[in-house]
Amino acid sequence: MTTFAVTAALPGRAPEMLAEAGEVRDVPGAGRPEREELLRLVEGADIALTMLYVRVDEEFLDAAGEGLRAVCNVAVGFDNVDLAACARRGIVVTNTPGVLDDATADLAFALILAARRRLGEAERLVRAGEPWEWGMGFMVGHDLRGGRLGIVGLGGIGARVGARGRGFGLEVAYFGRRESPHEAELEATRLDLDELLATSDVISLHTPLTPETQHLIGARELALMKPTATLVNTARGAVVDEEALVEALREGRIAGAGLDVYEDEPSVNPGLLELENVVLLPHIGSATVETRAAMAELAARNAIAIARGEEPQAPVPLPDA
Ligand code: GLV
Ligand code: GLV
Repeated sequence: MTTFAVTAALPGRAPEMLAEAGEVRDVPGAGRPEREELLRLVEGADIALTMLYVRVDEEFLDAAGEGLRAVCNVAVGFDNVDLAACARRGIVVTNTPGVLDDATADLAFALILAARRRLGEAERLVRAGEPWEWGMGFMVGHDLRGGRLGIVGLGGIGARVGARGRGFGLEVAYFGRRESPHEAELEATRLDLDELLATSDVISLHTPLTPETQHLIGARELALMKPTATLVNTARGAVVDEEALVEALREGRIAGAGLDVYEDEPSVNPGLLELENVVLLPHIGSATVETRAAMAELAARNAIAIARGEEPQAPVPLPDA
């Protein structure tokens, strides 16, 4: 009988799917377990279902022991998993691509609108009970129509953001290592990163976090952006040099930013908290009832396929061991 170690309470049908396929060990309650509790939970398990805040490193794999066959991450991102260590031990890794594309694109677009139209700042003003009145120059932001949306990483999520952008009258351009299969449907122009930054009105980041994309957007890149442009990050915090972003926002070198992710989650750089021209959300890109159930169910399908010796639906390519 396969033992599944599940590192958080899962929504939707996932718990019953797993229970039908094997023995489920999970964490009590809805909270985030302590590291020691996680390490105990995975001990002797065949398959671990992990959340993005669980560091799957040598320590975790040692705690699990020789029997561990797979790590099924309940997230599209897998920067929390040491892929090389898994490859060396012959452990399969899976993720949950696709099912969260629309929810995450919705959230990215909500941040684009919020930052372009200063919604956070405007809402804070009303809530503070401050006096205000309509004025020609009061709380003015920037139009979307007629501008350029620059997408860094035109994968599943980036393409959905692009489609929303076209609905709002933005032209789509992108940067990616390879030509995107979504280029034609979005009539998107592929540019190098510097040109994308220099010519876009909105930059939205949809690249996974890897050693190559760590601090992809730093002081030099921010300096290339238009002073009227907005940066939105719903991917991973460390794709942006947060300290450099605070500087750029403080000095008004870009118009604003919208962030759902941070370099050191759940801490948020105190410099960001002081600024009006940034909208801050607590990593809720995929946080809808429907999408979270779909992510948990895809992770469960991946785990059950591996338990049966079948190919999982969403394997993560591993480096050569
Ligand atoms: C969320 O950030 C995910 O990677 O699924
Ligand atoms: C976001 O994390 C993506 O890979 O599109």
